[in-house]
Amino acid sequence: MSNVNQHISQLREDFMKGELSETTLHKTPDLQFEHWMKNAIDSKANEFMAFNLCTVSKDHKPASRIVYLREFGSNQFYFYTNYNSRKAIDISGNKNVSLTFFWPELERQIRIEGTIEFAEKEKSDTYFNQRPIESKIGAWSSPQSEPITDRNTLEKLVQETTEKFKDKNIERPKFWGGYRIAANYYEFWQGRKSRLHDRIAFTLETNHWKIERLAP
Ligand SMILES: Cc1cc2nc3c(=O)[nH]c(=O)nc-3n(C[C@H](O)[C@H](O)[C@H](O)COP(=O)(O)O)c2cc1C
Repeated sequence: MSNVNQHISQLREDFMKGELSETTLHKTPDLQFEHWMKNAIDSKANEFMAFNLCTVSKDHKPASRIVYLREFGSNQFYFYTNYNSRKAIDISGNKNVSLTFFWPELERQIRIEGTIEFAEKEKSDTYFNQRPIESKIGAWSSPQSEPITDRNTLEKLVQETTEKFKDKNIERPKFWGGYRIAANYYEFWQGRKSRLHDRIAFTLETNHWKIERLAP
């Protein structure tokens, strides 16, 4: 066995930083999410806005990648991306997605499932307009997820876009914008000692959220 494999197979660390109990749990998952997100911000958790987005293609192949959460509230989650990317192609054929947040500093994970739609155009415009100019040019320049010959090709695309928009207002490209995920399931996970973790799930039923504790 290589040293790396030996190291990862033998590493055992207990989670000791907190607990999640029904008595302190918020009544709805969006409030619980907001509470934990606030804790993540306050504790300066690394990359607290990053989540793993899992999409599934029309032919049932899953793919996941990290994106940044840019807004949430009332069980809606927003992120921004290229509408021709691999994730966008998956989404066009299958509206079911899952999200995973992991905050090691707090020993917490949140799993969310839901359905996804394009964000409102006005929201995408507002978000795009407040981005730094380099990010705007990047969005116009990068054919996200497509193969490119080399790094120079990308840099040339950026240079061409920069010249094209010199002294002009850079509008949001039609192929770039937001998505909105409507959550119908959440699981809040708090690491505990000896792998006896706390897991509490909220499932959206007709008019209410069903709350269940799950075995670790
Ligand atoms: C910390 C982090 C944040 C990221 N945020 C975004 C994002 O908000 N939007 C995005 O399109 N890609 C983001 N990416 C890049 C994606 O992980 C991915 O490479 C890209 O979206 C292409 O994915 P796709 O080919 O599956 O569509 C981020 C990557 C990392 C590591």
